Amino acid sequence: MRLLVTGSAGQLALSLAHRAGGRDDLEVRFAARPAVDLTQPGSVAAAILSERPGVVINAAAYTAVDDAENQPGLAHRLNAEAAGEAAGAAAEVDAVIVQISTDYVFGGGRNDRPYREDDPVQPLGIYGRSKLAGEELVRAANPRHAILRTAWLYSPFGRNFVKSMIAAAQARPVLTVVDDQHGSPTSALDLADAVLTLVDAWRGGAEPAGGATYHVASSGVTSWCGLAEAVMAECRQFGLPAAEVRPIRSEDWPTRAERPRYSALDSSKFAAETGFRMPDWRASVGSVVRQLAGEAAA
Ligand SMILES: NC(=O)c1ccc[n+]([C@@H]2O[C@H](COP(=O)([O-])OP(=O)(O)OC[C@H]3O[C@@H](n4cnc5c(N)ncnc54)[C@H](OP(=O)(O)O)[C@@H]3O)[C@@H](O)[C@H]2O)c1
Repeated sequence: MRLLVTGSAGQLALSLAHRAGGRDDLEVRFAARPAVDLTQPGSVAAAILSERPGVVINAAAYTAVDDAENQPGLAHRLNAEAAGEAAGAAAEVDAVIVQISTDYVFGGGRNDRPYREDDPVQPLGIYGRSKLAGEELVRAANPRHAILRTAWLYSPFGRNFVKSMIAAAQARPVLTVVDDQHGSPTSALDLADAVLTLVDAWRGGAEPAGGATYHVASSGVTSWCGLAEAVMAECRQFGLPAAEVRPIRSEDWPTRAERPRYSALDSSKFAAETGFRMPDWRASVGSVVRQLAGEAAA
């Protein structure tokens, strides 16, 4: 089965390459810049029509949450229009599209339990609105879709919060980190495992008619401060410099985009339908920091 992944240097694209690497039954190809540029109408569709994959995994996106506030047109183009185009082209070649979406489609108004797939959406910023529009365009363009909402991605690859904390601890003895936004930090490697599990399940006959939306994030809930503390604990264990972490409020760390105070995701529907339960967030932080420490020592 041929998988066509959009982007190639993003966290999820690299995680998919890593996890699918040893599988003889999967041929993973990438539709990436410079050949495929999502800013250009028709670019991603042309790649899909030419490659004729069985599954398109739309991992590319405009992911800079704060910058999106200044570039709403570009965010909408990449996260909504290009996603819809990819879904339409996938439908033309009878391929499933796996669209990656975000916890930031939610507004954070609840804090009694993690969000389920059918909870009302209410994005607070341009990024969340553009990703929500992408979900809607994908559903409309291709009934063979899986929309996977994930959250707070980190990995050994690319730029992310976990790597930023490790780098900051090498430069400063104290890190101040927001403690009043809660969510589900998720390893992109775990998300890649989940995507491949879904592909296998749907190939095996479990594909629901009309598509499906799932939450796919690590289990457990923490704040950015809690995540930073966990990263520092792992740094101490694996011999990397560690800093003291001090909690601050969102008001003390102003950002251009407003973020939900609570956006944890409940991934039990995905577990029930595929048999794949996302790991606890702390265990996955440990394994990614261990890998980064190994690379630093090599
Ligand atoms: N990061 C998070 O915390 C987070 C949280 C929730 C949901 N998500 C969603 O999860 C998915 C994967 O995120 P990620 O963290 O892996 O993203 P990422 O590391 O920021 O990578 C973004 C990818 O998009 C590609 N891209 C950007 N502009 C492009 C353009 N004009 N044409 C073609 N490709 C372009 C990049 O291309 P290159 O390969 O050329 O660099 C890169 O592969 C996205 O849909 C994102 O919205 C992310």
